[in-house]
Amino acid sequence: MQNETTRRAPVVARRRTGRPRRYLMCPPTHFRVDYSINPWMDPSAPVDTRLAVEQWEGLRRLYEDLGHAVELIAPQAESPDMVFTANGATVVDGRVLVARFRHAERANEAPAYLDWFADRGYRDVRAASFPSEGEGDYLLAGSWLLAGCGFRTDRRAHGEAQEFFGRPVIGLTLTDPRYYHLDTALAVLDDDTIMYYPPAFSGGSIAVLEELFACRIVAGDADAGVFGLNAVCDGRHVILPRSATGLAEEVRRHGFEPIGVDMSELLKAGGSVKCCTLELRD
Ligand code: ARG
Repeated sequence: MQNETTRRAPVVARRRTGRPRRYLMCPPTHFRVDYSINPWMDPSAPVDTRLAVEQWEGLRRLYEDLGHAVELIAPQAESPDMVFTANGATVVDGRVLVARFRHAERANEAPAYLDWFADRGYRDVRAASFPSEGEGDYLLAGSWLLAGCGFRTDRRAHGEAQEFFGRPVIGLTLTDPRYYHLDTALAVLDDDTIMYYPPAFSGGSIAVLEELFACRIVAGDADAGVFGLNAVCDGRHVILPRSATGLAEEVRRHGFEPIGVDMSELLKAGGSVKCCTLELRD
């Protein structure tokens, strides 16, 4: 039996239990928008780097207050998007597939991630052979890896990820340039619960998600448009942009605890909570 939550079927909200996570973050010391590689980035609009740092600090503190460990990678002056660590790699079972960025503007971030993981003793570290943007496009759901393509990660990278991680990779096609990474249009809440924005996906991909996930929270235009799906779930808490109030209510109905945060400055580069967070699954 499937549960289309848009129909507001009553949900039996069991209390959720979380577990401590390890996240990799990068302070937005050099955050700015001086090029445009997604529709959110307008180099002529002013950016307040200090405010971005404040908002990012708030997120980091929140993770620590919730009992999670936060590791840091050093920011690089020539990499204004490096705050978005989700794109740097995908880490599953201690294996690390480091990104190959689609755009030249971000290419110099990849060596920094290769070094970071090598320096910390990760043994199985591999540089992707095809454009592949880390957890921006790969989301772990139970034993599967959901994998986006269409804008950044190349479909050929999906085969490489499946071979490397030994997990089934489920390819999903993104169709709306505003939702250019999978993590802007879908969040995994538990092994059989996702929240997502169907208009960002091809028809076949929506059918696949309906087939795989018994429970699907559907985001409306307003919540998707404030990057409400760019959320992090630790099993119990769902940390998401504060303005995504409809989604917050929905996740609460499903027994999770929503925590809204303000990441408005980071949104000017097309990123929010999840983009600033790379889970280290050792
Ligand atoms: N400006 C960055 C880019 O376009 C934003 C990356 C957002 N990250 C994410 N995981 N969706 O690449």
